[in-house]
Amino acid sequence: MPQTRRQFLQQVGITGGAGVLYSTMGALGLTTAAQTPAFAAPTRNDLNGRGKKHIVILGAGIAGLTSAYELGKAGYKVTLLEARQRPGGRNWTVRGGTEEKDLHGNTQRARFSKGQYMNAGPGRIPQHHVTLDYCRELGVAIEPFVNQNADAYLYREGTTALSNKAVRHRTAKADVYGYVSELLAKATDQGALDSLLSPVDKEALIGFLGSFGAIGNKAAGFAYTGTDGRRGYEVEPGAGLEGGKTASPYGLSDVFASGVGNYFSFEFGWDQAMMMFQPVGGMDRIPYAFEQAIGREKFIYGAKVLGLRNTSSGVSVIYTNGSRAREIKADYAICALPPHIAATVPSNLPADIIGALQYAKPTNAGKIGIEYGRRWWELDHRIYGGITNSNLDLVNMWYPSTGFHGERGTMIGYYNTGANATAYGALSPAARFERAVAQGIKIHGDGYGKDVKAAFSVDWAGTEYSRGSWVGWPSQTDGIYAKLLEPTGNIYFAGDHLSHTIAWQHGAMVSARATVTALHSKVMSR
Ligand code: PHE
Repeated sequence: MPQTRRQFLQQVGITGGAGVLYSTMGALGLTTAAQTPAFAAPTRNDLNGRGKKHIVILGAGIAGLTSAYELGKAGYKVTLLEARQRPGGRNWTVRGGTEEKDLHGNTQRARFSKGQYMNAGPGRIPQHHVTLDYCRELGVAIEPFVNQNADAYLYREGTTALSNKAVRHRTAKADVYGYVSELLAKATDQGALDSLLSPVDKEALIGFLGSFGAIGNKAAGFAYTGTDGRRGYEVEPGAGLEGGKTASPYGLSDVFASGVGNYFSFEFGWDQAMMMFQPVGGMDRIPYAFEQAIGREKFIYGAKVLGLRNTSSGVSVIYTNGSRAREIKADYAICALPPHIAATVPSNLPADIIGALQYAKPTNAGKIGIEYGRRWWELDHRIYGGITNSNLDLVNMWYPSTGFHGERGTMIGYYNTGANATAYGALSPAARFERAVAQGIKIHGDGYGKDVKAAFSVDWAGTEYSRGSWVGWPSQTDGIYAKLLEPTGNIYFAGDHLSHTIAWQHGAMVSARATVTALHSKVMSR
């Protein structure tokens, strides 16, 4: 269960393959990667005098949209073929009226009330991702996404004093940091690190640990007593003479054995540290803004690709959006389909390219959105946004980062990956909901099952046209993956899978930019 960075990495390693592991580590700064040159968007001036080239783009997910947008700005003719009836691909916001039939045969119709929604795919954007640059450029308003909240909970089943109950992040953190600091200060003071530290280093380290762990001084044995308030109060400080009353910390052995400490590194992650953002009104504001900027008339929705061929003069794409197959001829194609789906399209791509597409291994993720008629997490728990993390199979729960103090709110009742996601996905939507509520009650009490207005769940492996949440590569350095970074004749590839930021919109965008750059320089060289 991915409650810690290490466990998360292990898990993506297992379900996503070493490639995702490697790229995630890269994102975490654990490996070094080649620098991508700054993107210089092609311009109309570049193309002056050259015939207008037509690019057909397969898939209107984020990579397809970014490609079409950048090429369109430069004056290329673009056509997007999209099997769904909407842009965005995995960027999918479910609102009241959204209907979806999954590959298991379940049909769900979301009954969320007006203004309520769930982001079934991407839900959070770090500050350094180009996703925010496109939000700025396209006029998509953003608001903070609360990815860490000291008052959200950690819940671990187990046998310690911290187990089987909801522990506030702040409490767990205070105790973990406190005991780590106490132990390290003692070891340092007793000379255990003398071969590594000068007397000046030792003094500086102990000074740091005093503030980091809120521990006592040397006279007090560097003891962590949990009295400074950061772990919370039994009686809160108040007016007049009420100075507040703290509870004693949990015991050292219990704190470490409980595993609560293993979650904190999540918020240190390169891609997961606050501040984070979300579009106001739903993540799909991004694809719809792209659609508008590109021009609705360039999109053919409901278009399933039946064939893709390099020809002597360009490309030919066969698709159907009804009973009849149609052909589009263009100068170039950008295939922005998930690789495992692209591999199944009849084509004249050579076997090694098909093999490279098949080399990507899809993994799974699942989410449920639960709309409540009462914001009990604010009213009863004083939790305003953020994430509760557990070692239950639901793994993570997200409190809404918007609509504070409103009448209603929509939580993400589970967000899990790999085997946990597949276990939920195998259930009927009603059974997924029941399981999520039964687990959520353990953390939040009976209120979790009350005032429910609507629910909608997604199982990405069971979702047509995606068939997975993201992919992992066994390797991104052994030459197989790299084949897809080059065009095959007039066919180019793009997608988050062709980046070192897999499972982020940023990855799709930077891959699309690299592909647009390559295609444009080819056109310019002719
Ligand atoms: N981008 C996804 C998310 O934030 C998947 C992911 C999770 C990717 C953790 C990397 C690390 O949930």
